[in-house]
Amino acid sequence: MDIPRRVWLEIDLNQLKENFRKIAEAVAPLKVIAVMKANAYGLGEMPIATALADAGVDGFGVAEPYEALPLLQLGKPVQILSSVLPEEIPAMVEAGVTLPVTDLDTARLISEAAVDQERTATVHIKLDTGMGRLGILAADAPAVIREVKRLPGLDCEGIFSHFPYAYESGSELTNLQMDRFCAVLDDVARDGITFAKRHMANSDAINNFPRACRAPFNYVRTGINLHGSFDTAGKRTLKVKSILTLKTRITAIRRLPAGTGIGYGHTYRLPRAMNVATISAGYADGLPLALSNRGSVLIHDTPCPIIGRLSMDYTTVALDCVPDAQVGDEVICLGGSGINAIAVEDWAMLKNTHPYEIICSFGNRVERRYV
Ligand SMILES: Cc1ncc(COP(=O)(O)O)c(C=O)c1O
Repeated sequence: MDIPRRVWLEIDLNQLKENFRKIAEAVAPLKVIAVMKANAYGLGEMPIATALADAGVDGFGVAEPYEALPLLQLGKPVQILSSVLPEEIPAMVEAGVTLPVTDLDTARLISEAAVDQERTATVHIKLDTGMGRLGILAADAPAVIREVKRLPGLDCEGIFSHFPYAYESGSELTNLQMDRFCAVLDDVARDGITFAKRHMANSDAINNFPRACRAPFNYVRTGINLHGSFDTAGKRTLKVKSILTLKTRITAIRRLPAGTGIGYGHTYRLPRAMNVATISAGYADGLPLALSNRGSVLIHDTPCPIIGRLSMDYTTVALDCVPDAQVGDEVICLGGSGINAIAVEDWAMLKNTHPYEIICSFGNRVERRYV
């Protein structure tokens, strides 16, 4: 029996494609790799990837092997952007996933697997130009690249790096990182070593650093902008729109007397007799606890303040502004249109976090509905 879920996330695939087109136009002639890690930021890898493949995306980037394999059926290049563990390498080479060379040892293991399998493994050199997380330090890179190029079974198709600060327009580190990247390219070019794919820009850089979207770069990697969100800081150059609406239903409407304490800890007490609705979504569904007594939801497109502390499965809201609301009515927790719309960025600000965490935090029981 198919029991409808009480909380669902509507994901607008047409808007996703529109966002992709806006990004692709803005960075042309550079090509676009869609970043699909963590199940497409929790939104559902295959539906999102299929829509993007349809819209003409040039490739996919993921964090780890199990995210890579399903994407291969879409017929676009799939690359692991972070790192590979030794035991993961043979299967990835066999599958034809593009692998990151984060150090010489990894390159040797990929080469051995490729030779064993009588295949050519496609790799991208991952430079650490200032992220401090993974990759070959830019200063060591020319020597390491020369070694890697000597290994059999490898097609060194690409070279890439990542920005920690690109949300800050004009940040010195970001410019320095691009200088370091270009210096590595120039150095190895003296030995005739070139790379067909060269990429650094993430969404932040696309919005804040035009330099990251022109030669020598010929690809960008974007994740959050596809979903219509932006880092909290930085410019919002692209006119992308959110693809997300989180909905639930009213499960109870009650008239409660003045002085009633609401929810755990009674952090709200009714100042007068009020109509109060209990809606069927809580922090298990991804509503930040920080919305307690601070956020609101939309019922009949009208903002209704959240009162009391929200709990795992339920949230209580003041209903005085919507006297005709009924049990079972739809509630928009996030999204909506016009002046009352509740943005991912609004939740991020209330929670004192960034939009990535909001998007990645919708709960398991939240049904993803693609519209
Ligand atoms: C290596 C790499 N490239 C690109 C991205 C995409 O970032 P964004 O979602 O900000 O576009 C990420 C995501 O964190 C990443 O780790």
